[in-house]
Amino acid sequence: MVAARADAATAQRIGEVSTDHAARIATGIEQLDLVLGGGLVPGAVVLMGGEPGAGKSTLVLQAAHAVAVQGRSVLYATGEESAEQVALRARRLRADAAGLLLAATTDVVQLAALVGEHQPSVVVVDSVQTMRHPDHDGIVGGTTQVRAAAALLTELAKRLGAAMILVGHVTKEGTLAGPRVLEHLVDVVCELDGDRHHAVRLLCATKNRYGAAGVVGCFEMTGAGLQSVRDASRLFVGDGAAGTPGVALTLAVHGNRPLACEVQALTVRSNLTHPRRVTSGLDPTRVDLILAVLERHADVRLADHDVYTSTIGGIRLADPAVDLALAVALASARLAVPAAAELVVLGELGLAGEVRRVAHTEQRLTEAARLGISRALLPAAYDGPDQGLRLLRAHDLPQALRAALPGGTFPRSEPGR
Ligand code: TYD
Ligand code: MG
Repeated sequence: MVAARADAATAQRIGEVSTDHAARIATGIEQLDLVLGGGLVPGAVVLMGGEPGAGKSTLVLQAAHAVAVQGRSVLYATGEESAEQVALRARRLRADAAGLLLAATTDVVQLAALVGEHQPSVVVVDSVQTMRHPDHDGIVGGTTQVRAAAALLTELAKRLGAAMILVGHVTKEGTLAGPRVLEHLVDVVCELDGDRHHAVRLLCATKNRYGAAGVVGCFEMTGAGLQSVRDASRLFVGDGAAGTPGVALTLAVHGNRPLACEVQALTVRSNLTHPRRVTSGLDPTRVDLILAVLERHADVRLADHDVYTSTIGGIRLADPAVDLALAVALASARLAVPAAAELVVLGELGLAGEVRRVAHTEQRLTEAARLGISRALLPAAYDGPDQGLRLLRAHDLPQALRAALPGGTFPRSEPGR
């Protein structure tokens, strides 16, 4: 039986529910605010995930400082580094606003007490994996501890109306206890992604209860911390001479942002029994699959060649629309024939050698047009607008290669397509 209680839940007309986030705290860091949907929301929790070295601590410190200079109180709890280390970095980055409080602690109950005492508008916890709840068992950084710590902090953020940022480490496999188990608990999940040997960092909101998911922000890691980059479309394209074999241009979608990206391939005759397959920024399994499709359907033989494939600027491309550009780059390298100039290549490759339709083609073409690219090679099945580009259509790989590599010779397409 359900008994009525004095503190029973209430219902409200949907039109009367306040959706006013005028209280949003814009950090002033352009690309961060873009991803958050305008800024931090009081009472909401943001999980900032990323691999070690991505720049999470740098970004949250810069955000904490930016909010503190607005005259708000901010508490930065560090469990990872000592207060001295954080202060040193803050001074170097000139991110040491007077209103920025620093606490070195790994005890989440003590941290909660500090938050209660100082009532900050923004709380940063770096990282949630280092926090420990004294009433719970389990190793620090393990699922039990991370969940307990995050639950306490989330409840605290809601109760006090503080905007909270939890930093969480993710390994390449995304397996580490932490961010993955917290995703349902928090309001916003952002992932900071980038290769530590390159300067470019992409921040993507994979979940956002207060804005659109899929929004991508772009930063450059400099000696003065992370700087917002508004136009990301030239960062992943090389500046090699036009007409170099082994290079193809594509438009990959990261989150919901189309980015012009170059894929490169180098093939050299191998003396090895098992020729080398070295790849950077691309999925090695996908590269193997494309090599097989090239050999079987376009007679581009690479079994006795070492094959190197790469993206530019350290970007990781998982978008299947990149398949065809990679096939073009590989064939171009192998045949020493450059890809047609001013051509962007889009399409997923099927095992039967067919060129498959890809998502967001219109947005990709719009971005290509904005960048002054005049032609696009894409799946024959695309029947949308051309966005001002000249469209070359291909049903299958041989057709696509004939269009993209005018100097090469390829088998005729199989009949019936
Ligand atoms: P960090 O923010 O510590 O990464 P995370 O917290 O995600 O592990 O910074 C990562 C890298 O960024 C580090 O290797 C050094 C570099 N870096 C700069 O290049 N410039 C800077 O101003 C800072 C603070 C860091
Ligand atoms: Mg860190």
